[in-house]
Amino acid sequence: MCGIVGYVGKESATPILVESLKRLEYRGYDSAGITVFNGSLETFKTVGKIADLEDILPEETIANVGIGHTRWATHGKPETRNAHPHMSSCISVVHNGIIENYLQIKEMLIGLGYIFESDTDTEVIAHLLNYKMQSETKRPDLLTAVRETIRELEGSYAIAALCSDEPECLVFARKDSPLVLGIGEDGYYAASDVTAFLKYTKDVVYIDDNEIGSIRPDCIEVFDLKGNLLTKETHTIEWDLEAAEKAGYEHFMLKEIHELYLTPEQIKHLRRATIIACGTSWNAGILGKYLFEKLTGIHTDIETASEFRYGNPVLCGEELTIAITQSGETADTLAAVRSSKSYGCRNIAITNVVGSTITRESDSVVYTRAGPEIGVAATKTFTAQLITLYMLAIHLGRARGVISAEEAKNLIVNIKRLPGQIQKILNRKEEIRECAEQFADMKDYFFIGRYLNFPIALEGALKLKEISYIHAEGYAAGELKHGPLALLTEETPVVAIATMGHTYDKILSNIKEVKARNSTVIAVANEDDTEIEKYVDVVLRIPPSHEMTSPVLSSVVLQLLAYYTALAKDCSIDKPRNLAKSVTVE
Ligand code: F6R
Repeated sequence: MCGIVGYVGKESATPILVESLKRLEYRGYDSAGITVFNGSLETFKTVGKIADLEDILPEETIANVGIGHTRWATHGKPETRNAHPHMSSCISVVHNGIIENYLQIKEMLIGLGYIFESDTDTEVIAHLLNYKMQSETKRPDLLTAVRETIRELEGSYAIAALCSDEPECLVFARKDSPLVLGIGEDGYYAASDVTAFLKYTKDVVYIDDNEIGSIRPDCIEVFDLKGNLLTKETHTIEWDLEAAEKAGYEHFMLKEIHELYLTPEQIKHLRRATIIACGTSWNAGILGKYLFEKLTGIHTDIETASEFRYGNPVLCGEELTIAITQSGETADTLAAVRSSKSYGCRNIAITNVVGSTITRESDSVVYTRAGPEIGVAATKTFTAQLITLYMLAIHLGRARGVISAEEAKNLIVNIKRLPGQIQKILNRKEEIRECAEQFADMKDYFFIGRYLNFPIALEGALKLKEISYIHAEGYAAGELKHGPLALLTEETPVVAIATMGHTYDKILSNIKEVKARNSTVIAVANEDDTEIEKYVDVVLRIPPSHEMTSPVLSSVVLQLLAYYTALAKDCSIDKPRNLAKSVTVE
């Protein structure tokens, strides 16, 4: 989950590499580095953010070729020696991914006399490349050496490499990690994500798995692993042509739901759906399961992608899979989708990132269009995923005749009320801040909810632990008595989502169980609920709302609770320790 960039062209490479790396910082930010060709290969790297890298770069450089990297540590601590690029005499390499057999390769190279300076898996690529280029018979060029090197690598990689013997050539290769090229007027770009170079060009070429190629000042060439030259299509990113793209629909979401490529007949005959996701997206997926089963009558499973990909899914190919991924690049989600597609399943992707890998590997895509999310902790994109799931479930439910036009309309009216209701919560955020500050010193928290509020409890706990580093557990409220009650003390605040709905009485009973153990209860409840304050210590209010849509409101309250707790603890809110926005390694 690092980001790589490269540039070959007429412009000065260093500022372009730095600017591009800044755009990729969401992928990792514990250390960064660049190599530019300035008569010889010059490498600069440091622990810290891209701004720290800028501080150590020379003011002027005339280099027109370079590669760069922003790191999120997997193998080896965040130290300068582990930062990329990694060098082996005339070679410099940046890499995103994980080389699974690096220890065997490292042992072999140490036997040959190579000295390793880092603890990373990537350094083996640099030395192996160097070794391949030392061939006694015929010294191969960089492209051939990279091809021979990647044959020996197991795992995932997007690589960019430079060699001082071929100063105007950047060689790249990809397997299971994203890589895209940009074609500008004054140069060519390579990066993990188009946003890196969107400022310079909107013309892009997506590199697929098992492709390798070179960028020189006058051309880009892409080959398969056998050395056959490939004809690659150039795509133009048109993210700002919104109106023209809506094709008569009022909203993108409606247009995209109509593009599901499922005929009414296919929708009617759907028997099973499987939602695949990780982290926050997985929490959204649990809500999706409940919505699908209620509104569409389709049996729906929810799977953690990292488990699904190594499990033994029983699929006959007629199931619909729905992959939820904000970034569209999560390695486990992509692998799980590939696995389900190998059974013949049709996949719908719900993602926020136009042009991401998942969009190119799915049968249809519904964009959440929440806009770029920079903070590592997902917030607005979670809300957008929930809304997308409501809309999808309503659409399929109507097409299958499970819900009436009246029911669909009523739900949509309630969904449309959400922005105004969220604004009311934002207006009362000081109450949430006070509550957060009161309990910021606690070591453990519990979050409980039932039915549609259960995934919101999970997400509330995830948000809190992610940015405030407080241990927090989300639980289905009815499960407390099956173990976790043993952990409750006066020092364990329990956040109970107790909004109006058919499980309200049940959660009240759970709250009483908790109070009987002397724990503090913070309830999330509706403004018009006058009963709740009899039983709890603090009430965080949401506007009166429909049972089906109130989870969206409760989730905003819990996001703010996590935010203010992290603020009170002076944590690094936008860039929490050990985490990266896009998890492109497994
Ligand atoms: C938590 C968070 C992560 C992501 C997870 C999946 O705030 O952001 O748990 O939800 O890494 O990422 P996507 O949705 O990009 O597949």
